Amino acid sequence: VLLPLAAAVAAYLLGSLSFAVIVSRVMGLSDPRTYGSKNPGATNVLRSGSKAAAAVTLLFDALKGWLPVVLVRWFGAPYGLEEGTMALVGLAAFLGHLWPVFFRFEGGKGVATALGVLMGISGWLGLATLLTWVIIAFFFRYSSLASLVAAVFAPFFYVLGGGVAWYTDARVGMAIAVMSGLLAWRHKENIQRLLQGKESRLGSKKKA
Ligand code: G3P
Repeated sequence: VLLPLAAAVAAYLLGSLSFAVIVSRVMGLSDPRTYGSKNPGATNVLRSGSKAAAAVTLLFDALKGWLPVVLVRWFGAPYGLEEGTMALVGLAAFLGHLWPVFFRFEGGKGVATALGVLMGISGWLGLATLLTWVIIAFFFRYSSLASLVAAVFAPFFYVLGGGVAWYTDARVGMAIAVMSGLLAWRHKENIQRLLQGKESRLGSKKKA
């Protein structure tokens, strides 16, 4: 019990690193919590005009979800850590991003981190979900809509894939469903803006 718990705490701390804020600070850009949607995430960093900062944010926010999961997946077995711990650390990193201990518990919406977790669980699962995001983003130009649709599909991709290519585990499935639910809930303002036709499209710059 102690080792999975310690792993979860470590994953939560890693998830708490809000890279939108850190990367913006390091690159001398303004704090993403002060403009656009005010969300500390790659989409909002993109509104600063810096594609590089947005890409680095996306990469690191995804890596912090991916890393704890693959560490358990690759090296956990000799220590008795298996799917249950994988689900736990993935969820912990995601929760860290939403409620970061280092940033007064005011975090982001979890899209990049959830993608990293999915990639860690299974590359195919991550790619299928990423492809869903890309297709919706390409046709509709809304990052939030693409994230919401991808979040709805992710648990189904996991369950469907269980019969074909990758191993399905109820605890992992639950963790994915919980991530999707929280992700959607964090997008409630985006959903309102989408319904009102006021959501900002990908490629449009910041409005303070
Ligand atoms: O990365 C979260 C995305 O789905 C929406 O971000 O800044 O438009 O609220 P934002």
